[in-house]
Amino acid sequence: MNASNSRRLPVGVFDSGVGGLTVLRELREALPHEDLTYLGDTARLPYGTKSRSSISRYAGQATSKLQERGIKLLVVACNTASAVALDALKEQMRPVPVIGVVEPGATAAVAARPGGRHLVLATEATVRYGAYREAILRRDDQAEVRELACELMVSLAEEGWTEGSIAEAIIRRYLEPLEALDFEPDSIILGCTHFPLLRPAIRRVVAEEAAIVDSASTTASVAAAMLADLELFNERAGPGQLRLMATDGASRFARVGGRFIGEDLDASDIELVDL
Ligand code: DGL
Repeated sequence: MNASNSRRLPVGVFDSGVGGLTVLRELREALPHEDLTYLGDTARLPYGTKSRSSISRYAGQATSKLQERGIKLLVVACNTASAVALDALKEQMRPVPVIGVVEPGATAAVAARPGGRHLVLATEATVRYGAYREAILRRDDQAEVRELACELMVSLAEEGWTEGSIAEAIIRRYLEPLEALDFEPDSIILGCTHFPLLRPAIRRVVAEEAAIVDSASTTASVAAAMLADLELFNERAGPGQLRLMATDGASRFARVGGRFIGEDLDASDIELVDL
């Protein structure tokens, strides 16, 4: 394909469900002229409690669907898929570039608190594979990292119970083990697509001085820099188009996803696809 045809292709974004819409929101701001095609694998959500082989297979199939449609860059918006399967997805998409959310999240955390104590809140699988720890220590060997799996917080965000006593009690309960470890974090990394929605509740529970970092805006900056480097910006003057696909439940995708993307979505705008 020649360069000007490639430039007109959309950026593909994939997540296990609606959570990646928090990343899509930032991508839309950073790349207003780009077409964005989003795929949420809602039929198989959550990925965070699954085995490495299932996560890798699901992520590979979702990537194939976007690859079939034609994209010029893949953003793996799912922390779990980024932690577990990023190298395989890069291999699969070659020569099309692929970025995940873990590396940009680590960059943001290290920039916010150099030499700091970082607490990563994530899914079970992301914690099990220690991808954030590895990415942070590669950037800053003075850093200290603890990771906590907080599965219930995924459900809280989907349910819309993001503020108030229930949300705060659950967050407090997850943070309890840190006391015994005498670990007072300087930064809290929201290492799951859903946790930016819980930011105000997390803010009320953790020390005022702790930075709360999420990877969405840094990922969008990395995507913009990559398109600039590869001279792949869409040269149109007008706004890009958004296309949404899901593997199950268009109405739930629209209802829950609207909160993640920050605008009303209509079920008729969601295309259901099989992987
Ligand atoms: N999107 C996932 C992540 O960021 C959270 C939901 C899931 O477990 O699939 O890790």
